[in-house]
Amino acid sequence: MARIGLLTGGGDCPGLNAVIRAVVRKGINAYDHEFLGFRHGWAGVMDGKVDELTLQTTRGIIHRGGTILGTSRTNPYKVDGGAERARATLAQHRIDALIPIGGEDTLGVAGRLSEEGVKVVGVPKTIDNDLASTDYTFGFQTAVQIATDAIDRLHSTAESHNRVIVCEVMGRHAGWIAVHSGLAGGADAILVPERPFDIDEVCEHLRHRQSTGHPFSIVVVAEGATPKDGDVLSEYQTTDAFGHVRLGGIAVTLEREIEKRTGCEARMTLLGHIQRGGTPTAYDRVLGTRFGVEAIDAVTEGDFGKMVALRGTDIVRVPLEEALAEPKLIDPKLYETAEVFFG
Ligand code: F6P
Repeated sequence: MARIGLLTGGGDCPGLNAVIRAVVRKGINAYDHEFLGFRHGWAGVMDGKVDELTLQTTRGIIHRGGTILGTSRTNPYKVDGGAERARATLAQHRIDALIPIGGEDTLGVAGRLSEEGVKVVGVPKTIDNDLASTDYTFGFQTAVQIATDAIDRLHSTAESHNRVIVCEVMGRHAGWIAVHSGLAGGADAILVPERPFDIDEVCEHLRHRQSTGHPFSIVVVAEGATPKDGDVLSEYQTTDAFGHVRLGGIAVTLEREIEKRTGCEARMTLLGHIQRGGTPTAYDRVLGTRFGVEAIDAVTEGDFGKMVALRGTDIVRVPLEEALAEPKLIDPKLYETAEVFFG
């Protein structure tokens, strides 16, 4: 029997509650562990804001979006004495092991604490699907489905008005959401960070479509896509505690440029946080549950410094540092498949 801390950090993500429920359910029923949930990610660990997690408090949450623990983008290593405060809280609450559920940033903090002797097993979370060492993260499939539904709806206006519709999706510096939703939604162009675009070529392609009997087009653009001769086009100047620039708004520029250069009416839609909200798909509930069960098994076996991961159809454990080494970018072959349908 052990006292185990749980936290969710970074952007909220569909499937987080499925992980919490799975960890606690198996941890109590199979191993008799006790659980404390830290509120709002690493902020709760630094400030000692904690709730007991029981079978009762984690019941009936598998279908709920967001996270019952709350989340934040707090980085204890960017706060004076933050890491010391975090370790002091863990000692005060007699935490034997920690299960942080998060993306690159949250797990990056976990990796540093692990090097300093804290026992951790990480669970990979992000709608962006950009974490190395796991084929998929939970939340990604839900985001792709939401974006695909939106593209389907945007087709109505594109087709009725003969317009170019630019749909901006999230994904940070990886084009996973863009390429999957664009492929599923039959996009006529997909702009991703992995392939800097030339606006003249994009407009030429749209004009060519027009002149060959396709009077409307759908362009899916990832928020982190960049022009060949420029930088990220964001509406914001701010960075978060992990040094990431806030993205969003490239579609505003694209709408204007496409209309100006092609003479075709253009409209943009920015999906934003709609992609992260609401109920997780069945796939993400199942993946989150499988990750949660594996994480509590790893903790119970004392297999620390690991992250649970999906490889093919298997759930495995990988060293945390391996998972954090590089972001996982889109497979060029996947993009080439989507490209077949741009014509
Ligand atoms: O990492 C998930 C994500 O939704 C990114 O796709 C996006 O760039 C970012 O988080 C937005 O963060 P916030 O909710 O802090 O604006």
